[in-house]
Amino acid sequence: MKIAMVGSGYVGLVSGACFADFGHDVVCIDKDQSKIDRLHDGVMPIYEPGLAELVGANVKAGRLTFTTSLAEGIKGADAIFIAVGTPSRRGDGHADLSFVYAVAKEIGESLANDAVIVTKSTVPVGTGDEVERILADSGTSHRFAVVSNPEFLREGAAIGDFKRPDRIVIGAEDDFGRDVMREVYRPLFLNESPILFTGRRTSELIKYAANAFLATKITFINEMADLCEKVGADVQDVSRGIGMDNRIGAKFLHAGPGYGGSCFPKDTLALLKTAEDFDSPTRIVEAVVKVNDSRKRAMGRKVLDALGGADNARGKKVALLGLTFKPNTDDMRDSPAIAVAQTLTDAGVEVAAYDPEGMEQARPLMPEVTMVEDPYAAIDGAHAIAIVTEWDVFRALDFNRIKDLAKAPVLVDLRNIYRPDDVRALGFDYSSIGRIFREA
Ligand code: UGA
Repeated sequence: MKIAMVGSGYVGLVSGACFADFGHDVVCIDKDQSKIDRLHDGVMPIYEPGLAELVGANVKAGRLTFTTSLAEGIKGADAIFIAVGTPSRRGDGHADLSFVYAVAKEIGESLANDAVIVTKSTVPVGTGDEVERILADSGTSHRFAVVSNPEFLREGAAIGDFKRPDRIVIGAEDDFGRDVMREVYRPLFLNESPILFTGRRTSELIKYAANAFLATKITFINEMADLCEKVGADVQDVSRGIGMDNRIGAKFLHAGPGYGGSCFPKDTLALLKTAEDFDSPTRIVEAVVKVNDSRKRAMGRKVLDALGGADNARGKKVALLGLTFKPNTDDMRDSPAIAVAQTLTDAGVEVAAYDPEGMEQARPLMPEVTMVEDPYAAIDGAHAIAIVTEWDVFRALDFNRIKDLAKAPVLVDLRNIYRPDDVRALGFDYSSIGRIFREA
């Protein structure tokens, strides 16, 4: 099969490289000349474990190429994926579809053979219908079908998620679309990955419903964590206790500082907008968005509490360990660390931060924060340490060294990566999420 991937960002590049690895002939297309030049030189535009190797191997095997020319790239393609960004539109939270529609128009104008056009970008219900109209209006004489095929990749684990998915969702309205997509995903059929064929609008909604449900699960356990702190219960045991029920499931019940990233915040907002437009309010998702937003600053206040309260915090120093919205990415979008840092600097606290991959992206977002080159440089002279992202390098910190370097042994663990008893036994004042300490 020949596949064209329009948009060589996160989703396009990972999907393109994986399709090539399955043996398809893939062209990744992007308007950004410098991005394409760097890809030709083997330089990835994003940090994703294993991606550079996968791209390199498939370029070498001749199955993966890059171009800035859409007309060239889609020539002869059986399937043309649209994988361009759908950011939140400024002001109203609607997904901005201008890139998707511009690509659809260009595809229509350049189509040189019959092809299936696939929206992989996360797009609101009805976008496929509009893409179909745009293609029809382009006057193309070639046969085409418009299909929805949402992605469920997690940053940091995207290649594994692509190659071993829980499911593949395909929304198609005719046999042409279904048949081509069956061929595209044949290698995964052979892996026995379940494929759900459904209507296009349903498929578009599945993507939003999945992300909104996961965001709800996280927000639910975060509120339970707050309650645990009040009643003297342990949220990790609550997660285990409910997660062992198969109807609930154990995943995405890890309490923390609130969800961030490029997907949950944007997609929950876009779902609210769709619901509003169709006069069918989704009040649970509305609550999730509000609760998660306020949680991020509340986490900053939690660190202030560890310093003895906002009134005692001015002039003190805090070490922030981890800035990205989760580990194994350099993505800072909607990271809780931004609100935590802001709350601290607003209270006159001096903040030094370390993150293995995210500091470059973080710098412009937190100009008052000093970025340092390793965790211990951040800890040097700190009155409190806050773990905001659960990178592996923070899982086995040298506590004796910390005691020597820090002004006070105070640790706020917003990801629950340590066991309270262990850290307290080392003489630390330790607080975490939803795990209250009771003197024996
Ligand atoms: C998410 C979904 O998990 C993917 O299935 C989806 O394809 C993707 O969005 C997307 O729409 O493109 P991602 O944003 O990469 O993936 O990251 P997640 O691993 O889902 O984490 C999102 C946020 O939730 C992070 O801030 C993470 O720290 C937080 N989280 C996650 C928790 O606080 N607790 C948990 O138990 C799980």
